[in-house]
Amino acid sequence: MRDAWAALTAHHEAVKDRRILDLFDDPSRADAFTAEADGMRLDWSKTNIDAEGRRLLVALAEGAGVADKRAAMFSGAKINETEGRAVLHTALRDLAGSVKVDGKDVIPAIVETLQRMEGFARDVREGRFTGQGGRITDVVNIGIGGSDLGPAMATLALAPYHDGPRCHYVSNVDGAHIADTLKGLNPETTLVIVASKTFTTIETMTNAQTARDWMGTAVANPAAQFAAVSTAADKTAAFGIDPSRVFGFEDWVGGRYSMWGPIGLALMIAVGPDDFRAFLAGGHAMDTHFQTAPFDANLPVLLALVGLWHNQFCGHATRAVLPYDQRLSRLPAYLQQLEMESNGKRVAMDGSDLPFHSGPVVWGEPGTNGQHAFYQLIHQGTRVIPCEFLIARQGHEAHLAHQHVLLVSNCLAQSEALLRGRSLDEARAIMAKKGLSGAELDRQARHRVFPGNRPSVTLAYDKLTPFVLGQIIALYEHRVFVEGVILGINSYDQWGVELGKELALALQPVLEGRQGTEGKDGSTAALAAWFRG
Ligand code: F6P
Repeated sequence: MRDAWAALTAHHEAVKDRRILDLFDDPSRADAFTAEADGMRLDWSKTNIDAEGRRLLVALAEGAGVADKRAAMFSGAKINETEGRAVLHTALRDLAGSVKVDGKDVIPAIVETLQRMEGFARDVREGRFTGQGGRITDVVNIGIGGSDLGPAMATLALAPYHDGPRCHYVSNVDGAHIADTLKGLNPETTLVIVASKTFTTIETMTNAQTARDWMGTAVANPAAQFAAVSTAADKTAAFGIDPSRVFGFEDWVGGRYSMWGPIGLALMIAVGPDDFRAFLAGGHAMDTHFQTAPFDANLPVLLALVGLWHNQFCGHATRAVLPYDQRLSRLPAYLQQLEMESNGKRVAMDGSDLPFHSGPVVWGEPGTNGQHAFYQLIHQGTRVIPCEFLIARQGHEAHLAHQHVLLVSNCLAQSEALLRGRSLDEARAIMAKKGLSGAELDRQARHRVFPGNRPSVTLAYDKLTPFVLGQIIALYEHRVFVEGVILGINSYDQWGVELGKELALALQPVLEGRQGTEGKDGSTAALAAWFRG
């Protein structure tokens, strides 16, 4: 592993000044650096990775034991060592499989819970489960982080399949979020789902209480219109939710990997059980590809290796995710948790200091909106930002096919512009045509130069169906896994969120004036005093 790392460092040094565009002198470049899995296509040819770079990166993955660790994960071994847990979100979509944890096959219980979810979802969608004022018109999912971002992102993504009640997602403890959401809803026909793996998260429990109070002003039995999703059955019972509407899962499903199971209940109610199963099937298809394709044709492995190349060897600290798909507008936020909570770690699995950087900053917005906001910096800023474009061959709006052509042309044009750039000579020719000359031509031309040589990858798929969404999400999950294995970190804990939570709890009595600011730093004490007025 150390040798592979050194070889890649040397290789990067040798190739870092060349133009990516020149690699296309080889007419087979685009084909050779495009991989496919069940109709999903990853074009990574617009990167500065050549055949030797690919060989070295694959050797890095092999040397890091990715194959063995992958087998360990899928087999139910406790690879989340700091929490002593298996990592088995993949089992949630392996419905015909068999996976053992502590000697017990976990699939039968997964299928049973899925079937219970389906029964409940059908009852809600078909009007058999009613609120105290009749058929359910609105579902409010209260959760945060992994208990919100996945289903919220997917409900938007699958809008063309949404034929159930309206779905709303409340996450922020800021009262504005729940107030704005409940405004206009009828408590008599609203179902509230409290989604929390631990059922202790303060934001979620506070919003759940607010929702119960709101419902209690209008209906006799608010708890009857609540459902819960959690690993903590004792706590959901204490909240007063009938066990028939509680959907459990095990601690080997990490929060940010949990949308495939009961955390996806609101999504299932929105799109229906059949489309939810198609989503699971897409995820499972990507699992199979990940487990069987050779590394140099394996989408998650390649995406991870490209990511490592840019972050670790080229030194690009951020990564932009740019879906040319309006319905994937929450994908960047979803990936921020998936990637940054998983791989934002400064120590290796054994507790030693990480000898290199942790995972990159992930950010983004849908194209074409981003083009009119931050692409300026991506094209002409001083830092290089590797970009990941996502694009469907077809939109759902057949009558707006001409708009889809425009969308695709913008997506392809952006990666082309990043690659090609515009030289000073080209800029000068443009300005000369406009009638400029002399010093003014020189000055104006320099502002119109694009350095180009900026890397990107493009993930292309036929249409954003439930199956394809499942493929995309599983692809990113496994990418995070591979990057984490190569970095030698535990991608499945999240201790970095704890300190802030503890300090917030301790500050509450200070802000309420029940405690003084002793022990606080000067800034925090002054801000607390400001708040207390
Ligand atoms: O922010 C930390 C975290 O634990 C996430 O990992 C998790 O997705 C989120 O909080 C919500 O946790 P829970 O589902 O237990 O409410």
